[in-house]
Amino acid sequence: MIVLYFIIYKEKTNQMKQTDDMQLLENNSFYSNHVEPIFIKNCIACHHDKKKLGGLNMLSPSKIHLGGKNGSVITIGNAYKSEIYKRLILPISNEKHMPKGKDSLTKNEIKLIEWWINSGASFTKKPDDFIFPDEIKSILN
Ligand code: HEC
Repeated sequence: MIVLYFIIYKEKTNQMKQTDDMQLLENNSFYSNHVEPIFIKNCIACHHDKKKLGGLNMLSPSKIHLGGKNGSVITIGNAYKSEIYKRLILPISNEKHMPKGKDSLTKNEIKLIEWWINSGASFTKKPDDFIFPDEIKSILN
């Protein structure tokens, strides 16, 4: 089961690398509308091409897929096993808290990222492809 999951994940990662990131981001995905802006505002400053702190570049889906120096940062379907989420909910006093040395994201931003990862961490699905629970609907409206 775990092996199968790994193969599917690898396959997805390979497809992602072969796809043009710009094309992904121009397609009005849920990610580009609601998740990427949070990353741009709070994370990119330290996680881009020239400044990959912790080995992590968050500039594009394929770069996020590459993970950081400790490996993958997203476990599809499980926010609590995803480094990119786990660090958001740590207290600011914890040295692993992200964004490093800055205030935590808002509750709604954290909830959106949690929901995005738990619902498959897709970079391409459009908002219409999802059925949003009320909790998420109220954040998006
Ligand atoms: C002010 C700079 C700064 C900002 C802003 C920042 N980070 Fe980081 N990040 C770091 C540093 C430094 C490290 C390496 C040290 C560590 O692991 O804590 C790191 C490491 C990480 C790692 C671990 C990578 C690995 O494989 O070890 C993750 C995941 C991460 N950051 C996510 C985020 C997210 C998500 C945001 C935005 C919400 C963010 N960071 C914003 C500085 C920053």
